[in-house]
Amino acid sequence: MKTIFSGIQPSGTLTLGNYLGAMKHFVDMQDEHDCYFCIVDEHAITVPQDRLQLRENIRSLAALYLAAGIDPNKSTLFIQSEVAAHTQLGWMLQCVSYIGELERMTQFKDKSSKGKEAVSSGLLTYPPLMAADILLYKTDLVPVGEDQKQHLELTRNLAQRFNNKYNDIFTVPEVSIPKTGARIMSLQDPTKKMSKSDTNQKAFISMLDDDKKIEKKIKSAVTDSEGIVKYDKEKKAGISNLLTIQSICTGRTIEELENHYDGKGYGEFKQDVASAVIGVLKPIRERYEELIGSEELDDVLDSGAERANMQADKMLKKAKKAMGLGRVKKKK
Ligand code: TYM
Repeated sequence: MKTIFSGIQPSGTLTLGNYLGAMKHFVDMQDEHDCYFCIVDEHAITVPQDRLQLRENIRSLAALYLAAGIDPNKSTLFIQSEVAAHTQLGWMLQCVSYIGELERMTQFKDKSSKGKEAVSSGLLTYPPLMAADILLYKTDLVPVGEDQKQHLELTRNLAQRFNNKYNDIFTVPEVSIPKTGARIMSLQDPTKKMSKSDTNQKAFISMLDDDKKIEKKIKSAVTDSEGIVKYDKEKKAGISNLLTIQSICTGRTIEELENHYDGKGYGEFKQDVASAVIGVLKPIRERYEELIGSEELDDVLDSGAERANMQADKMLKKAKKAMGLGRVKKKK
């Protein structure tokens, strides 16, 4: 049995990309492993957030985790800001990180491309906080989508650096990136990642979109004029993205699907992709509606925070001792 940790930002309704690249795998892992899943609200405030909206998004994400199949009897589900050890260890790991390596993170470079005066310093020190999330729980494996790979490499470097410099206390985690679906692309520009912050609503499917919206968005997905349903990431990015989505949602291989649509046009294919996505998201949406207003949700988050605090405090204590923080108490 391994220890698994992963987190998702409560920065808007999750997309089909978040589900297929990450959340779906969390659900698959919880039967065999000791899992921690986190709502990383402290990561979300690295960019401006509306206070009331953020609180709503946090609750909504908790309900989505459960609706997607996270079982609180098997996994620990909690909110990052309810476990103080995350920011404490985050600070300590900032002191082990170099500004140069943080500035080289692609996500920081992208988000600060309009000038460093316009972004918070939290955006730069985001990865050491992410490393703290992971290292507090002696995590063996971190399931994430492709875009988090670089942050995971940095986490491994920070763990090793800390272990060498102070004391060998941290488990160096492995990253787990799914073979298919690690990078679901935008429906409008299939060379770009599907993202919940895209200004074009047609570019992404939200996990809470109704059936009609899903169908409409898939039907208007950008493809090509060839009329051949074939996987070719370079030359047929749009079709390849839809094939990937359909393959994960139905459990059929890409090859099987290519054969099935041989000689058929994009109309039927897109209709089937839409049906497959609806088949996956509809039950999640229905369960979400039941959960969002329930007290059950608060009970789950309360006991999750309690369990997470217990684990995290133990590791924080070790890390503080290793770095020499605190004091030596005189015995009476
Ligand atoms: P976030 O909130 O941006 O995304 C959550 C998860 O969804 C994956 N993902 C995708 N997968 C496939 N296709 C896409 N288009 C797509 N978009 C997003 C992400 O890779 C991620 O796994 N920094 C993290 C949150 C975090 C975290 C952690 C993750 C904070 N602490 C500790 C793991 C461990 C983030 O911003 O994810």
